Amino acid sequence: MMQGNRILLVIGGGIAAYKSLTLIRDLKRDGLRVVPVLTKAAEQFVTPLSVAALAGEDVHRDLFDLTREAEMGHIQLSRDADLVVVAPATADLMAKMAGGHADDLASTLLMATDKRVLIAPAMNVRMWNHPATQRNLATMKQDGVLTVGPDEGDMACGEYGPGRMAEPVQIVEAIRDALGGRRVAPLKLGPAVATGRLAGKHVVVTSGPTMEPIDPVRYISNHSSGAQGTAIAVALRDLGARVSFVTGPATVSPPEGVEVIRVQTADEMRAAVEAALPADAAVMAAAVADWKVANRADQKMKKGRDGMPVLEFAENPDILAWVSQLKTRRPALVVGFAAETEDVVSNATAKRRRKGCDWIVANDVSPSTGTFGGEDNTVTLISDDGAESWARMGKDEVARKLAARIAEAL
Ligand code: C5P
Repeated sequence: MMQGNRILLVIGGGIAAYKSLTLIRDLKRDGLRVVPVLTKAAEQFVTPLSVAALAGEDVHRDLFDLTREAEMGHIQLSRDADLVVVAPATADLMAKMAGGHADDLASTLLMATDKRVLIAPAMNVRMWNHPATQRNLATMKQDGVLTVGPDEGDMACGEYGPGRMAEPVQIVEAIRDALGGRRVAPLKLGPAVATGRLAGKHVVVTSGPTMEPIDPVRYISNHSSGAQGTAIAVALRDLGARVSFVTGPATVSPPEGVEVIRVQTADEMRAAVEAALPADAAVMAAAVADWKVANRADQKMKKGRDGMPVLEFAENPDILAWVSQLKTRRPALVVGFAAETEDVVSNATAKRRRKGCDWIVANDVSPSTGTFGGEDNTVTLISDDGAESWARMGKDEVARKLAARIAEAL
């Protein structure tokens, strides 16, 4: 859906500019036209020649080329685009944008455009946290500027924290969203026409709670809206994956364009996952009840007939552990979740080992975080590479970022 769209890419002067080369390559691979603009500072980090070679376009540089200016002018350049992307957006570029400066080619284009602007900030953590940058960011958001990132992590300058530019794959996702180019649901058009990084891949997602009957009218269950699992299915679908969505009775409706398999109990969920295999990846986001009622009654239990009923429990299958330990038909990538209230990383790391899955998405759900029922989530991705903390972000963004990572891994 993005094919043929034209991106005006403003590359700012920061160490992250090297990632913009990958971004250009990825956008070109998706069939987009990329018209690059380099600031003067950017030329210290990437050469106009390499940018031009990758983009297959002339590079517009920060020196006014009068001939070109006469030919089409900066206004034309910024309006011919479908979207303007600034990556990396340095503290200086952000300040210029927020202040409405127009003293060089890049800032003039940004002022003259009538298209949406998406920025991928990248700078030292202190610069990012500086009140001036945060003020500029707030102003730009008010002006309708879209943002992606920055990520938290080790920085080129040796510090740790937010400020690292989002990975190209995330920027591509944000561009796709900004263009309104949601991937066409594979089930509607058939897998043959699915495009995107996960085209041709099959992913099983579990979501929602399970419901374990006590008798025909009563049950035990867990609190779970299914929001995170649904967001993950949507994000995977949008990358072109065929998604088998195995869901318990959740409050959030299942997404369009995925195969929905509705189940009630953990036993049914395990059977549905098994029936959906083989798959390239499995993402287990369901809140599965740990126990089922072993002495389940076939008829409704009557109050006061034989005193208080005594429930006996039996353990439910651990679907995540089971799928992780399959000898044949184990998906190449198995992702589990861990909601913890203390020692998040060490508990989740132990859980990953115990279950045998490849990744654990761990989050702190202690009441002070406001994660339960809230829109945001703070997660740590635990893999063979260790624990990687992600900045606090919306649950949809967590899903998109996770889906992008899955695409990279597959
Ligand atoms: O052990 P715990 O419930 O904390 O593990 C959470 C992870 O395991 C989640 O990914 C959840 O979907 C999965 N799980 C499962 N089957 C169970 C219990 C948990 O798949 N019976």
